[in-house]
Amino acid sequence: MAVTIKSPREIELMREAGRILAKTHEELAKNLRPGMSTWDIDHMGEEIIRSYGCIPSFKNYNGYPASICVSVNDEVVHGIPHKEHFLDEGDIVSLDAGVIYKGYHSDAARTYGIGEIDDDAKKLIEVTRQSFFEGIKFAKAGNHLNDISAAIQKYAESFGFGVVRDLVGHGIGSHLHEDPEIPNFARKRKGILLQPGMTLAIEPMITEGSYEVVWLDDDWTVMTEDGGWAAHYENTILITEGEPEILSL
Ligand code: MF3
Ligand code: CO
Repeated sequence: MAVTIKSPREIELMREAGRILAKTHEELAKNLRPGMSTWDIDHMGEEIIRSYGCIPSFKNYNGYPASICVSVNDEVVHGIPHKEHFLDEGDIVSLDAGVIYKGYHSDAARTYGIGEIDDDAKKLIEVTRQSFFEGIKFAKAGNHLNDISAAIQKYAESFGFGVVRDLVGHGIGSHLHEDPEIPNFARKRKGILLQPGMTLAIEPMITEGSYEVVWLDDDWTVMTEDGGWAAHYENTILITEGEPEILSL
């Protein structure tokens, strides 16, 4: 599939999808508490998304059974919510959510601490978030895709953290996953030339230790191989003639 350039109408719909998704994340963040289950978060997230007249895009996507991916501590991404999986004070939890508004997708993820978390966990979350912003400094028309990837990697690795290789960001629009793939690490190939009207989901997944991951038997949950904790930060962005526009903030 070719990388698509969105029309002004499509961009307007993706702005609205992103605005709703940003609000969804804000409401979820306000309601996180020790003792709640990962299922509670999913339930709340689905209600919020539907209250805005949107469809949760992850629900039943390739058989994924929930609306919000809830990944705790050494779970990197795509954690499946469970009624008996409770959050404890000191945990970190990554929430990944997607919405469809009038046929257009937005995709974003955040990692939060539950109650008081230790300084290492705070640093992991903050570096992961900042690596996204370091990356999108290069999200400009005329740059190569690889410039974004390389900047994310350089920043995260300068703190001794790992950059997950087995999962990548992606184009987004009328489909959740469109071309191009967007790695969070540099490759020799420069990648496509960025052009105004491209919409991209950039999503660094950063680990405390080794970047190697394993899949659980549930076929979804991705965990660090070494048991170190991981964080995830993602937004849907629009390439413009100037600075990128972050649609899901
Ligand atoms: N942000 C994740 C991704 O782009 C969302 C996964 S959706 C799921 O892969 F439905 F597959 F869980
Ligand atoms: Co994504």
